[in-house]
Amino acid sequence: MQTRVLTGITTTGTPHLGNYVGAIRPAIEASRRADVDAFFFMADYHALIKSEDAARIERSRLEIAASWLAAGLDPQRVTFYRQSDIPEIPELTWFLTCVTAKGMLNRAHAYKAAVDKNAENGEDPDAGVTAGLYMYPVLMAADILAFDAHQVPVGRDQIQHIEMARDIGQRFNHIHGHDFFVLPEVLIEDQVATLPGLDGRKMSKSYDNTIPLFAGGKKQLRETIMRIVTDSRTPGEPKDPDSSSLFTIFRAFASEAETAEFRQALLDGLGWGDAKQVLYERIDADVAPMRERYEAFMADPMAIEAILQQGAQKARMIATPKIAALRDALGLRSAGKATTVAAGQPKAAAKQGKMPRFASFRDADGKFRFRLFSAEGEELLLSMPFADPKAAGALQKRLKTLGAAAAVMQIKAQGMALELDGEAVASTPDYRDEQLRDDALAQLREALDQLAAQD
Ligand code: TRP
Repeated sequence: MQTRVLTGITTTGTPHLGNYVGAIRPAIEASRRADVDAFFFMADYHALIKSEDAARIERSRLEIAASWLAAGLDPQRVTFYRQSDIPEIPELTWFLTCVTAKGMLNRAHAYKAAVDKNAENGEDPDAGVTAGLYMYPVLMAADILAFDAHQVPVGRDQIQHIEMARDIGQRFNHIHGHDFFVLPEVLIEDQVATLPGLDGRKMSKSYDNTIPLFAGGKKQLRETIMRIVTDSRTPGEPKDPDSSSLFTIFRAFASEAETAEFRQALLDGLGWGDAKQVLYERIDADVAPMRERYEAFMADPMAIEAILQQGAQKARMIATPKIAALRDALGLRSAGKATTVAAGQPKAAAKQGKMPRFASFRDADGKFRFRLFSAEGEELLLSMPFADPKAAGALQKRLKTLGAAAAVMQIKAQGMALELDGEAVASTPDYRDEQLRDDALAQLREALDQLAAQD
């Protein structure tokens, strides 16, 4: 089974070494694992909450996309997109807003900090607080729940948001009587280093102590490294590696052997100026090839645009059917369509005693498979092959109780795949066009609901 791992990057800044070591590098490494289905996106709607500077947001979207691609993200493998290219996200945000307790949002750290600050200054509690800041956690929950992410790697400051996403998803599931959403787990990577910045505090834009990853090229990288604060020990005097941010940064890039060598050199009295040169050279050995790709991407924004558009298409293949199922469940359906639950009326086919049915068979390889037919006898699904007939039986059993709303459908080039626990378990026949595919999806949903209502 694949684990769907999803994370967002707010597009207000330019990536620095701390972002690279703490987020970009581990995320890309994880995305290469066979058991990981990675979704990385640019949270540009969230950026609007933090910045009204359109030029800055535009630049940041481009720089962040180019940085991740240059650092080795494979857009064929990873679903890589911009939040603002997925209209299902704001739509889901509203559905979730309607089940979110206002009192919970009152307790969100960022909002509370703003209110506390106002109180300290004797201002109205909500002075300068936008509804966007207040709604931040709900938008973030929609980012996650729209794709049924299992794991969300974030920094510690974001843990509360993931807890809220779980809470909101759970409330929605509970109110609407179905497991519509996977409840996400927070993933805190304890092994990844937090880099110290120029002044020894955590490297962060808000402390203005960052070392840029690509911006300004080699020259800027070297000049910034030369500004790292050290103690006043002179060349020849032994240095303490463990209290030096220079050493901590070095270690985040170097092998164990290189690190041991650098440690010894410091103990032996290597001067800080020379140590900085060593650090610069070590970092640049990793960064230089990526910087070349970064500059090529930055010179060709249309290439980035094409990659992100493709990513949005891939993401929407999941989000579109998901939101369609939610609309249906919420009662936002076509007036022409017979209701399944509200009217409490059995379907015409069911009235005549006709139900969707399964047909099991062994294929040419001797594997066990089955088909699902609609009450009217049309083929809806073909299961994957199973070596063990019991596994095929267990899947049939699950499909019988699944219901349309919980069905995760993935749109393929021609047909669709049904996913359970992140794995495709059955597929529809291929359809000639979108209309036929949409009709088939509606039929399949109806059949799943009929089965689920059966007992
Ligand atoms: N709020 C996150 C941050 O500032 C960015 C983000 C937005 C995010 N949506 C997300 C992270 C969804 C994980 C999942 O770091």
